[in-house]
Amino acid sequence: MEIVLATRNKKKVEEIRRITADLPITVLSLDDFPDCPETVEDRDSFEANASKKAVEVAMCTGMISLADDSGLEVDALGGAPGVYSARYAADATSGNDPRNYEKLLKDLKNIPSHERGAQFVCCLAMAYPDGRTRTFFGYSRGRIGFEPRGKKGFGYDPVFLPEGFNRTFAEMAEEEKDSLSHRGKAVEKLAEFLHSFSKHKEN
Ligand code: IMP
Repeated sequence: MEIVLATRNKKKVEEIRRITADLPITVLSLDDFPDCPETVEDRDSFEANASKKAVEVAMCTGMISLADDSGLEVDALGGAPGVYSARYAADATSGNDPRNYEKLLKDLKNIPSHERGAQFVCCLAMAYPDGRTRTFFGYSRGRIGFEPRGKKGFGYDPVFLPEGFNRTFAEMAEEEKDSLSHRGKAVEKLAEFLHSFSKHKEN
């Protein structure tokens, strides 16, 4: 089965391709469909944004589409930046811009380590060309460090330490991050669905 991934973020395409390598699907990127317009992520929940992206791309390509909307929820900030993670710093030019985590570290400057809890959230939405959708959620709990560490990954990885670890996501090998990440967990749920779907088709 071919699925179009509704993002032009190369790091995300790479990460999702890697995590879905064992699934019975071929992941195409939106770069294969340059005429599809960019979805405006103007909804106030991960689920609504992911579904909107997936439906628009499924309709534009006529193929099953998979969209991911994700972000970081920080306890001490009442769940911010949440759906606004990619543009937390007013001058950030993308979700990979270090100014986002620099602002976060500044906002948490006086917050002690036991109050620096946070979670990454990922909602994967799968949409069919007729507009039907299905969503899968994954969460990764952890805490925000006091300074950036590590060079791998993207976005807030250098300041996020997953629960039980003293290393940030940016200090972990790709496979280690995948086994702990919100995106990895959402993909596991998608995988369960796709496997039961292909079994159902065999019978
Ligand atoms: P979107 O899902 O493309 O709307 O953007 C979500 C934003 O949340 C990204 O641009 C990053 O800033 C942040 N984010 C989501 N997932 C991760 C991750 O795995 N590591 C670091 N930052 C992430």
